[in-house]
Amino acid sequence: MRVLTRPSNFPLQRTGFVIRRAVVGDREAALRIAAAGMREFGLEPDFHGLDADLGLLGEERPDVVAEFVAVAENAVCWSVVLTVKADAIGKLSGLYVNPVHRGQGVGRTLLKAAVDAGRSRGLARLYLETWGKMATAVRLYGSSGWVRGEDPPASSGADRSYWLELARLTPRSTGRAPRAGQRERWAAE
Ligand SMILES: CC(C)(COP(=O)(O)OP(=O)(O)OC[C@H]1O[C@@H](n2cnc3c(N)ncnc32)[C@H](O)[C@@H]1OP(=O)(O)O)[C@@H](O)C(=O)NCCC(=O)NCCS
Repeated sequence: MRVLTRPSNFPLQRTGFVIRRAVVGDREAALRIAAAGMREFGLEPDFHGLDADLGLLGEERPDVVAEFVAVAENAVCWSVVLTVKADAIGKLSGLYVNPVHRGQGVGRTLLKAAVDAGRSRGLARLYLETWGKMATAVRLYGSSGWVRGEDPPASSGADRSYWLELARLTPRSTGRAPRAGQRERWAAE
């Protein structure tokens, strides 16, 4: 059974939005929003490969810590996925908001919900990959305490990485950006 950690005050109710755990029935709408969000930046989604965390939204998977969607007027308008990797590191992905709902605070709220879930799960650090050209996202991460790490390799489908420290580092968590080959091992997990 999947362990899902969520903030105690869940689902979160915000003006006009409810943030709740994602279910399989949310997937089609979430992927449509994510695909459109990627294409805005000239990127092609790969939901069976590089974007598989989001491509399997709502499905039972042992590495999923939290999967949330924001719902407005009975329609999914935002998604985020947090999976656990090696060394108490969580990977955040699938951060997309429907254009008509952007700039209303739902992005920041859902990002915080995912971070809180990682902290409750006892993760030491969170990691994400993005593109420098995703200016709003980059600003959001920077103003939420995320720190830029080593740029991922070209094969990763991204050109920037960001890290967020959640806890004191354990001996197994070195505090460094992923070593060469670590990303490939994560992908194989
Ligand atoms: C990045 C994204 C997820 C943010 O979601 P959102 O709901 O619009 O974000 P919020 O309303 O919570 O705003 C977050 C911050 O961005 C700022 N912001 C939002 N829209 C903005 C815009 N169009 N221009 C400038 N700043 C903007 C807000 O002012 C806010 O900063 P503040 O809290 O300091 O005021 C959303 O814009 C999006 O889906 N973008 C396209 C896809 C993308 O880049 N995804 C990231 C993949 S890694």
